[in-house]
Amino acid sequence: MKLPNIVILDEKDKRLHKVSQEVSFPLSTQDKKMIQDMLLYLKMSQIDEEREKYDLRAGMGLSAVQLGVLKRIFVIVEETEKGQFKNYVVINPKIKSFSEELIYVGEGEGCLSINREVEGIVPRYARMTVEAQDEDGHFYEIRVREDISIAFQHEIDHLNGILFTERIDPKNPYKNAEKMREI
Ligand code: NI
Repeated sequence: MKLPNIVILDEKDKRLHKVSQEVSFPLSTQDKKMIQDMLLYLKMSQIDEEREKYDLRAGMGLSAVQLGVLKRIFVIVEETEKGQFKNYVVINPKIKSFSEELIYVGEGEGCLSINREVEGIVPRYARMTVEAQDEDGHFYEIRVREDISIAFQHEIDHLNGILFTERIDPKNPYKNAEKMREI
């Protein structure tokens, strides 16, 4: 596999703190290429051999803004079983409903734009229903749960210029942990 030629912005970059714009269709050839590049990059980052070869950090999701493109597009790659990957292409997402139950990643969330250790937990909905558009502009509804629900919320935050570190209370990084379920 050939690593796509993409540069992921670091948290210090101002663009990561801006709100991305709604996308209109049809997508440009450039945007379609960007989506394919993001999907392949994430997949390769999850394959041990490729990750080591290219010195990557494993990642599950990427938003266009992390490549400096301020459009409401993100992708997620989930390894469903060894060597099997499921792609999510999510454009103009809207959260339709969400669970009362909150969860958090016990070991802390990670982000390909944040290149340091971050202490603390981020409250996330355990389940959500999201409406979005695919690469062809077709609307679809998706029900997500657990780690995929967290990944969707993390990426939707990116589209709104929010990094996960901003959702951690610096004075009390494990605030309300007892009210949520760890995954
Ligand atoms: Ni991120």
